Amino acid sequence: MAHQIAILAGDYIGPEIMASAEKVLAHTAKKFDFEYETTAYPFGGEAIDKCGEPLPQSTIDGAKQADAILLSAIGGPKWDAAPKRPEAGLLAIRQALGLYANIRPTKISESQVDDSPIKPDIVRGTDFVIARELTSGAYFGKPRELAEDHAIDTMYYSKAEVERIMITGFDIAMQRRQHVTIVDKSNVLATSKFWRQTAERVAKRYPKVTVDYRYIDATTMAIMTQPTAFDVIITANLFGDILSDEAAQITGSIGTIPSMSAGATGPNLYEPIHGSAPDIAGKGIADPIAMVKSVAMMMQYSFNEPEITEAIEQACDQIIAAGITTPDLGGTATTDEVTDAIIART
Ligand code: IPM
Ligand code: MN
Repeated sequence: MAHQIAILAGDYIGPEIMASAEKVLAHTAKKFDFEYETTAYPFGGEAIDKCGEPLPQSTIDGAKQADAILLSAIGGPKWDAAPKRPEAGLLAIRQALGLYANIRPTKISESQVDDSPIKPDIVRGTDFVIARELTSGAYFGKPRELAEDHAIDTMYYSKAEVERIMITGFDIAMQRRQHVTIVDKSNVLATSKFWRQTAERVAKRYPKVTVDYRYIDATTMAIMTQPTAFDVIITANLFGDILSDEAAQITGSIGTIPSMSAGATGPNLYEPIHGSAPDIAGKGIADPIAMVKSVAMMMQYSFNEPEITEAIEQACDQIIAAGITTPDLGGTATTDEVTDAIIART
């Protein structure tokens, strides 16, 4: 049976890079004999315009029925004054599908070393993964209030919520270099102390894994000064949001990093970690690499097609090495030219 893929193309550069991803998907599927069907659903600002809200029920239903979900990017100035912003749809789909584990890789291939703003000797060999908790913490805690003279956000974590993301992170570490770094603010925050206690308990089940504990502030420095010190970082929702943007920058462009969001059951969701880049939308210069690599990640984790994953990732490395890149990576190629160059190499 054909694998069912839900497509949420989103806003601004979203549809541009999704078109690239679909072209690469079509090409590699044919070459490697992978059968699939896609169904597109409105999401984000596009859905606000069409249906009055960022995550219509039909999109939730369609996404739930799919075997995997590809999402590009949403939001932008057009909906700044909307009663519900497109971003609310992103948080809602994560929650509706129970996607609590967000996996964001940072890997510098040799071809990317010179694009990095960090010195080659420091950045060479960087290869780590951030396991970010995605459905709780400061993003979802209640009470939440924006009043005239005060505002409240609540950072809440239950034991089960912390434990399951710990297990995800430790399991990933077992497939890698067996090293975990727990990132928190346990010198100040109760949730972080709780996070650390939970890590100590879970770590006992993984005697082969070495565990470091670092504070979030110190970690932002270490990512710049010793990025090779990390294998798997496990961290809370808000900290992971911040760290993953920082980590992306050391590759030279946030336009190259894919991610996977997974739950206990149901389809995983794959998306670039970058946003909808309204400033460059419509110019045909959006970097499609993160979206294309999201397809590669989907092939690996949802469909167990390592050959397709490998082919796409190698092609992306090759075009970067050849300098066939969009302006974010210092090149002059268009989105279409990059896409065609990737296809020619898979
Ligand atoms: C991300 C984004 C989202 C987040 C926003 C758009 C709600 O920044 O996926 O990292 O903060 O999680
Ligand atoms: Mn973010």
